[in-house]
Amino acid sequence: MERAKPAETVLELFAVTPPGLEKVTAGELSSLGLSPHMEAGGVTFRGGLRELYLANLWLRTASRVLLKVAEFRAVSFRELVSRVARYPWEIYLSRAEKVRIRATCRKSRLYHSGAVAERVLKGISARLSRELELTKDEEAPLIVVRLFRDRVLLRIDTSGRDLFKRGYKVAPGPAPLRENLAAALVLLSGWDHRAPFLDPFCGTGTIVIEAAMMAADLAPGLHRSFFFEEWRNFDPSLWEELRAEARARVHPPEALILGSDISAQAVEAARENARAARVDGFVRFEICDVRDLHPPAPFGYLVTNPPYGERLSKTAYHLLARVVRERFKDWVVVFLSPDKEPLKGVPLRRVAVFQHGGLDVNVFRGRGQELFRKVRW
Ligand SMILES: C[S@@+](CC[C@H](N)C(=O)[O-])C[C@H]1O[C@@H](n2cnc3c(N)ncnc32)[C@H](O)[C@@H]1O
Repeated sequence: MERAKPAETVLELFAVTPPGLEKVTAGELSSLGLSPHMEAGGVTFRGGLRELYLANLWLRTASRVLLKVAEFRAVSFRELVSRVARYPWEIYLSRAEKVRIRATCRKSRLYHSGAVAERVLKGISARLSRELELTKDEEAPLIVVRLFRDRVLLRIDTSGRDLFKRGYKVAPGPAPLRENLAAALVLLSGWDHRAPFLDPFCGTGTIVIEAAMMAADLAPGLHRSFFFEEWRNFDPSLWEELRAEARARVHPPEALILGSDISAQAVEAARENARAARVDGFVRFEICDVRDLHPPAPFGYLVTNPPYGERLSKTAYHLLARVVRERFKDWVVVFLSPDKEPLKGVPLRRVAVFQHGGLDVNVFRGRGQELFRKVRW
């Protein structure tokens, strides 16, 4: 008689995302066929190992994916240690000698995050019958502990290196944008992957490279490793199947994808990075002052991160406004600025605000002729 296959455990997963981008990440999870639920700083979703692997392989705007290991109430350290020791840490940490623990405590009797982290470590060590060490080393597995109203939520990182570290930033620049933020800008623009795409302040090329990866259907996690590959429950054939499917999906984009910058050095860096990202055949970078820029078609998407800071900021936004109003009238324009009002006294349509390095970053979007209509010079 054939034995029924045991139902796969439902995993509770959490995609960590920069605050303000939850909706964009939720949109990405929906397009992977998952049902996201937004929270502050991330999005929860459920699934099995397939969904865990898919999220790591495909999410462009998240910084990592966490797996819930346990949730319980604890009001004393003794209780905390003994509860932590009940969970199967050997699945995830069988080879680990050191772990990172990030704890936050709010409205709870156990309020000292350092002491909570130590007790969690003690509970895990008890379970594994060996002493683990706490470390800050980014290479070590990460456990995230959240205590709220005496309820302890324990999650383990499934990703390893931050998901936005895609590995293609081989050539540095003075103000490169994080890969997941660049991806968010492209998604917020609503680009259809058909019309021309352009970043006229491309710097090291992050926005253009992310756009090309999206249009080419190139999974951002295809060429890197993840923590879950070290776990005891790792399913190499499932993982290989998902990677093979992802490899088969890569195709040259239909759209013209362009980046330009006034600096020859930046353009060279962008080209190098595009090569490392394996999209160099799909994009074109040119040296060009934004003042001399002409659209390659009457309609397209201009998505950019203009230079900001002191005097220059005003110049760059005004320059962009002038060029867009004169020559990119029908284009969809998206740009970001740390300033809520980058063109003083001129109302612009803000479509998102998210946090980056402790700063608020504002995203503005509109049709060329509309967005900067009220600018006077
Ligand atoms: C904030 S950086 C862009 C960073 C880019 N998103 C990245 O990921 O590297 C702004 C860029 O604008 C360029 N820039 C400044 N003035 C310019 C102009 N008039 N025309 C074109 N590019 C200009 C700078 O060389 C710089 O690379």
